[in-house]
Amino acid sequence: MISQLLSAALLLPSLSAAAPDLTVMDFEGDSFGNWKATGEAFGKAPVAGSLQGQMPVSGFLGQRLLNGYHGGDDSTGELESPAFKIERKHLNFLIGGGKFPAETCIDLFVSGKVARTATGRFDQPGGTERLEWQSWDLSDLIGKSASLRITDKRKGTWGHINIDHIVQSDDPKVLELKKEFAIAGRYLVWPVTRDTTQKRRFFFNVDGQEQPLFYADICLSNNPDFWVFTDLANYQGRKITVTGSIPGLLADAWEKVKISPTYPGEDEIYREALRPQYHFTSRRGWLNDPNGLVWKDGTWHLFYQHNPYNHNWDNMSWGHATSSDLFHWKEGPNGLLPDAEGYMYSGSGVVAPKGSTGLPVKGEALVFAYTANGNHSYEPGRKVVQSIAFSEDGGKTFTKFAGNPVLPHVEAENRDPKIFWHAPSKHWVMPLYYDRSDYGIYTSPDLVKWEKTGDYKIPTDGECPDLFELPVDGDAKNTRWIVWGAQGKYMLGSFDGRVFKAESGPHQHYFGAAYAGQTYDNAPDGRRVHIGWMRDGGPGLQGAPFNLQMTLPMDFTLHRQGDGIRLRAEPSKEVEGLRADTKEWKDFTFEAGQTDPLSGFKGGQYEIEAVIDVASSTAAELGFRSFDDHPVIWKAADKTLSGAHGPQAPIDGKLKIRIFADTVSLEAFVNGTYTSRYIRQIPGTKPVRIVANGGSIKFDSLKVHTLKSAW
Ligand code: FRU
Repeated sequence: MISQLLSAALLLPSLSAAAPDLTVMDFEGDSFGNWKATGEAFGKAPVAGSLQGQMPVSGFLGQRLLNGYHGGDDSTGELESPAFKIERKHLNFLIGGGKFPAETCIDLFVSGKVARTATGRFDQPGGTERLEWQSWDLSDLIGKSASLRITDKRKGTWGHINIDHIVQSDDPKVLELKKEFAIAGRYLVWPVTRDTTQKRRFFFNVDGQEQPLFYADICLSNNPDFWVFTDLANYQGRKITVTGSIPGLLADAWEKVKISPTYPGEDEIYREALRPQYHFTSRRGWLNDPNGLVWKDGTWHLFYQHNPYNHNWDNMSWGHATSSDLFHWKEGPNGLLPDAEGYMYSGSGVVAPKGSTGLPVKGEALVFAYTANGNHSYEPGRKVVQSIAFSEDGGKTFTKFAGNPVLPHVEAENRDPKIFWHAPSKHWVMPLYYDRSDYGIYTSPDLVKWEKTGDYKIPTDGECPDLFELPVDGDAKNTRWIVWGAQGKYMLGSFDGRVFKAESGPHQHYFGAAYAGQTYDNAPDGRRVHIGWMRDGGPGLQGAPFNLQMTLPMDFTLHRQGDGIRLRAEPSKEVEGLRADTKEWKDFTFEAGQTDPLSGFKGGQYEIEAVIDVASSTAAELGFRSFDDHPVIWKAADKTLSGAHGPQAPIDGKLKIRIFADTVSLEAFVNGTYTSRYIRQIPGTKPVRIVANGGSIKFDSLKVHTLKSAW
């Protein structure tokens, strides 16, 4: 027993204490010591930070570093170390500056040859002078004699290199990762921090293929705020290799990245405190614009701009959910993922009949047009272009067209193609956003060859075009075309399949948080169903593993009214399927001071539905306050609605108001215009009350419906 304890005690220190680090050079002295400098770039000694004309240098340790900016970018020079013996498994060092192999670099020489080399991170104007750790794995070179040479041969932008703290260590500061996972479970799970400065890039190769299938920037963490996942439902039974580099400190977190049939937090999904109960949110991560809205065979597809890995805009992918009723959504694996084309920006989808495309598809297919934002590619020289993807299995798997891009770069970050079939001209049409308030129109016989046919503007709006036709007051013989921008401004006019001619506008339909919406292609019964994104500039919902939501789905119609022809929206009728309990009051007059019929109603998720007879009402301000104090109040004097800025005339003497409250959002439809607010507050009860300032309100009817959760 005693001898066992003794041997355990003797073993312990050698197990836990790694051999101490050996400093090769810390660049703390007032000379380079026995290192040999030639040329101008490195000066005569380490320096205390930035040199004249240099951006602030940070990230170095101690008081000084080796700075290659003596005499600016155009100077050149070399610094050579004496020989030293490799005695630890890794060499760690801090490095910053130009990304020019063999020109701005640090090289390790063994037996007269370059055994390892590294550069800084930048070759374009911009960037940062912050030094970051790099580590070389030298385990195969232990015992050998080596030397280092730091080179600056480069002139011009980023023509310099900075180095600090070169240390031999058994603990790498940076781990170069490469791990193959057998995919025998739907998810590859990752523990992450909300701190988005911690992101590291990972590449994913399937079945040993050379070209990465996709890449992602993930904020891996030893103390996760939550877990995220890569959904590998479509790759079961195959192998995925993940490569990347992470700080050595994150070795524990990396060990936890694994294939699993579930993801941590899945048992609470859709029941989290801040989770909207009948608006679409993603299970994990950030979302913005709806993309690829298309209906096929009873299924509504909702794609969306998605960062699956954190609460912020990043990693732009197309998330994908499907529903048979626009409210009960099921999320599948992402449809489009960032790859060598760059980020997958917004776009649209259609059902393309057999023979209507130049794509390698056998029959009818779902076809998607998207913007590939090459500015985010890992391959230099990529541009912002328009590309095509298709699905032949009803939206389960997606193939990017081998002939991409179908439209080369035109200007700026040209983007957001919205495609549709124009039956009279028998060709496909694509409005495309250019820049400012400018859009172009392209047409194609086959979704592959595109020709420019027109231009238009939506003054004061931009991004995310939509272009569609609607009958006026339901009269199929009297139609107008609408061009729509991301802020919900639109022009009315005519469209001959090639050119849009504006008749009036811009008119404003949306108000509040909604942005970047689009309408469904191929919706049944001639419906024009629209979904927008509810944006919010804030820091996201603290603690929640998801961020932001879609608007209610709504149906668009066109009507002639006092101020001309205008677009109106009503919540899509499917919302009625969520009603659990309805209370109704008919034909009554309400005045301030009277008992509010809604006073007993404590809130939760609900819809208020009211028809007010304006002519018989005397109140100067009338409407509701919901969510404690958020007003939907109409002012009789100037016929405006709080929250909305435009005129809001009664229709046939009535105001028809529908208000929808969910966990963190409030939306109102008032005589066909739409306004919404994203309310980042701790959820609880959301009382609602009638507001009648300076008179009475005559209600034709007032209903309150509690709404069931869609989850
Ligand atoms: C609109 C938008 C689009 C772009 C996308 C990127 O919100 O800026 O123009 O395609 O978001 O996520």
